[in-house]
Amino acid sequence: MCGIVGYVGTREATPILLEGLKKLEDRGYDSAGIALINGGDAIELRKKSGRLDNLRRHLVNDPARGACGISHTRWATHGPPTDENAHPHTDQSGLLARVHNGVIENYQPLRDGMLARGHTFKSQTDTEVLAHLIGECYEAEAGAGTPETRLIAAVRKALGQITGAYGIAVMHLDAPGFLVGARLGSPLVVGLGKNENFLASDVTAIISHTSRAIYLNDHDLVYLTASDFNIENIEGGTAAYEVSQVEFTAEAAELGDYPHFMLKEIFEQPVSIENAFRGRLSDEEASAKLGGLNLSPSELRDIDRIVLCGCGTAFHAAMVGEYLIETLARIPTEVEISSEFRYRNLPLDKNTLVFTISQSGETIDTLAALREARRKGHRVLGLVNSVGSTIARESDGGVYLHAGPEIGVAATKSFTSQVTTLALLALLLGRMRHLSLAEGRTILEEIRALPDKVRQILTLSDHIKRIAECYLDCPGMLYLGRQFNYPTALEGALKMKEISYIYASGHASAELKHGIIALVSETCPSVFIAPKDTLLEKNISNIEEVKARKGPVIAITTEGCTEMERIADHVIYIPPTLECLSPLLAVIPLQLLSYHFAVAKGCDVDKPRNLAKSVTVE
Ligand code: F6R
Repeated sequence: MCGIVGYVGTREATPILLEGLKKLEDRGYDSAGIALINGGDAIELRKKSGRLDNLRRHLVNDPARGACGISHTRWATHGPPTDENAHPHTDQSGLLARVHNGVIENYQPLRDGMLARGHTFKSQTDTEVLAHLIGECYEAEAGAGTPETRLIAAVRKALGQITGAYGIAVMHLDAPGFLVGARLGSPLVVGLGKNENFLASDVTAIISHTSRAIYLNDHDLVYLTASDFNIENIEGGTAAYEVSQVEFTAEAAELGDYPHFMLKEIFEQPVSIENAFRGRLSDEEASAKLGGLNLSPSELRDIDRIVLCGCGTAFHAAMVGEYLIETLARIPTEVEISSEFRYRNLPLDKNTLVFTISQSGETIDTLAALREARRKGHRVLGLVNSVGSTIARESDGGVYLHAGPEIGVAATKSFTSQVTTLALLALLLGRMRHLSLAEGRTILEEIRALPDKVRQILTLSDHIKRIAECYLDCPGMLYLGRQFNYPTALEGALKMKEISYIYASGHASAELKHGIIALVSETCPSVFIAPKDTLLEKNISNIEEVKARKGPVIAITTEGCTEMERIADHVIYIPPTLECLSPLLAVIPLQLLSYHFAVAKGCDVDKPRNLAKSVTVE
């Protein structure tokens, strides 16, 4: 949440910072701002509430120049999204500016203390409090060393007094061409260029300038000039780091010919699913190869329980994973919402394997769950998309999704990549236990066939658009599915509500008669995920129950299941596949349904209100 970009070099910083913020807008889009140092006697500070374009327009009338600057796009925590609350914030002297991603929990007593010492605050934010605190520490260092060493010492001292999470970038007018960054709990990446260096919350912000990146660890402090950088521990000790080569290109994070990232990412799924299983299928063993798990065959055999943790869409993928692992490997599996896992003290014995699932690899609740499990001495694995992210680095092993950057705030391709990798895990564990060679081969064959089947479903986009347009006035929607497709129903409902702001809820179909059926009416459509599987007849009975109460029905079923035409108002056919893989196909029409619905309602599908892509606050 919140995006930070910092630049120090020889070029004009404003276009670089704005371009970087554009890439990070999915992390927050309540307000944006930049601060530059250009040799003048004041910091060039420009900030505006609302989308980045407001700031852009403001800069046309009131340009800011300089080759050293910091910038921010905000997801509001303390104080509403106003110009005053937008970052960067300055200190009491107005000579120091800082941006922040995270939350300072003890900001109120710090603020009260500074108010008593005569400070005046312009905003309601916790960030301004820390800017003042660093400024105060900087003044206390007067006479000790250069402005640069004073600034480093001041950042250290101030951070020592706060509790909370932060990724920060700071600069001072006395030290032009010098940036200080630090992180604890919120991501920060250093980009290394030629005669220029960068700081950012995510590499996507700087990838068009450099592919050499250093992912900072918690408690790291970095200082940068155009030609040099240094990384230390916040206490002043040495810090280990490594320079990584970023895998994806700048184009991968561009919209191309698509009107929205969400649509682009939905259409990328044939490739992203293939990337999730490429090189990981073994025909000889009729199994999967997941070397990144860092577990020996005997350790894999000893696992007698699995706990999968995630939030939102990742939680839904974990639910599919539970069905997959229990069906294919017969290992008892539990799914936990990360934030619940962290605080609930689940009993875990030594053969329990904990898996954290996260697209961004930065979700604070999932990271906290990982740390809690590791603190108890458990080996924790990660299923992560963002290479170099905190969860990826702090896991004992895991599997990368290789889905490429997911920029649309609503998760789409990450869900199918997560489910694909969970299917590989279930296959691997299953083949070490009960699954026969023939069963393993069938699963491999069906996994390989998925990309083409998804391609086929994507050709139905216009058909699904027409269905969506029939229900634009509906107040809400119900999503119903059974077994493997109960989580698919939850995911379909989440997609609908988060981007179109109508109420939508997902349920196990049989739960209808236990209360939900009270919501069925002529204006409330029910979306049934009812592929041709062992429970098709049961789903059909539930559809009949809805129809008997005049509820419109959109049914997703398997090709050939023409009886559905008789009872449902609209039918979307998906190709046949194994029951355990069916969520990978059934979710695609649901993604398209929510996309077309939201677009037709005029909603901003890539940046839905109140949301952010990477949730780094509790
Ligand atoms: C929904 C969505 C969120 C995320 C959740 C976890 O479309 O995007 O529910 O799935 O915030 O994010 P990651 O996977 O980055 O941990």
